Amino acid sequence: MNIRSVIRGVGAYLPERVLSNDELSKTVDTSDEWIRQRTGIARRHIAAANETTTDLACSAALRALEHAGISVDEIDLVILATTTPDNTFPATATRVQARLGITAGPAFDIQAVCTGFIYALTQADNMIRLGQAKCALVIGAEIYSRILDWEDRGTCVLFGDGAGAVVLKAENGNGAEAGRGVLSTTLGADGRYYDSLYVDGGPATTGTAGFVRMQGKEVFKHAVERMSSLVAGLLEDQGLTTDDLNWLVPHQANVRIINKVGEKLNVPPEKVIISVEEHANTSAATIPLAMNHAVERQLFKPGDLLGLTAMGGGFTWGAALIRW
Ligand code: ACO
Repeated sequence: MNIRSVIRGVGAYLPERVLSNDELSKTVDTSDEWIRQRTGIARRHIAAANETTTDLACSAALRALEHAGISVDEIDLVILATTTPDNTFPATATRVQARLGITAGPAFDIQAVCTGFIYALTQADNMIRLGQAKCALVIGAEIYSRILDWEDRGTCVLFGDGAGAVVLKAENGNGAEAGRGVLSTTLGADGRYYDSLYVDGGPATTGTAGFVRMQGKEVFKHAVERMSSLVAGLLEDQGLTTDDLNWLVPHQANVRIINKVGEKLNVPPEKVIISVEEHANTSAATIPLAMNHAVERQLFKPGDLLGLTAMGGGFTWGAALIRW
């Protein structure tokens, strides 16, 4: 059988506490004007002291399951993309699995920083196509507020906490919904850029969690190039052009990166999903958060072609074409 993975539901969760640029500028030498102008970010959400990545992931996953109309009994794969696991081990995905009452199939974390969701989606899609899973929860969840140096204005203003999830289900690619689902994915990495964006801690180095360190301009340049060329490549492989693309759903790091990716691909702004203003860069969670933003506004119509694209620490990168 020609198996395709179809997105059945999308959900998201943002912690209750909102930290606006103005509030942030009371403790950090920055301003609402600078942050908005350079990044398009207006506010970020901050997890409560007792909230964990599991909490955020479960809230998003439950909303995705509800949106899908699918019960946890059907889930036989949980993949969680995160840079901020609850503990060094086990995988936070196993805790999410237990909390949701799922007992079937594997559960594991993926660490590809801001590309994590695309890595997780690709893995889930491959396992579904191979018949190794029938219904997957693919989650991106992060608590960046715990790995930010709040005295480094070059990084702390950029990130926030949040989670997003999709339910991906195996469907007969020749059946009533032929043509829908994940059409193709692509992943890559170049570890020579490890030090351009990293966290200066870890269990095998300092024994502490560490803080985000970044060469902003270099990241910016690579993000624009990678995120645009990946989508162009996937479209070409499918015999499609950017005119065929209904929606570009880029990683939400910075509105200037997003706008430049749109310009390079010649995708008009009205076809580009932007939600970064509301939640800042939530790393592996930004793409499902952006998808949820679009779903809440009923932007995606059946048959629409979506191009997802991301780049992150490593450097890692990835993209996916999805027929809604
Ligand atoms: N508030 C006020 N001023 C600031 C702040 C701040 N928060 N941060 C830096 N500045 C100052 C700098 O000190 C510098 O001052 P100076 O000219 O007196 O030396 C000035 O602003 C310009 O600094 P630059 O670093 O040159 O600013 P730039 O225009 O490059 O913008 C930014 C910085 C926003 C980080 C940009 O490089 C960027 O967006 N890079 C991409 C980084 C990113 O999105 N990373 C996310 C993770 S990776 C990913 O998700 C793809």
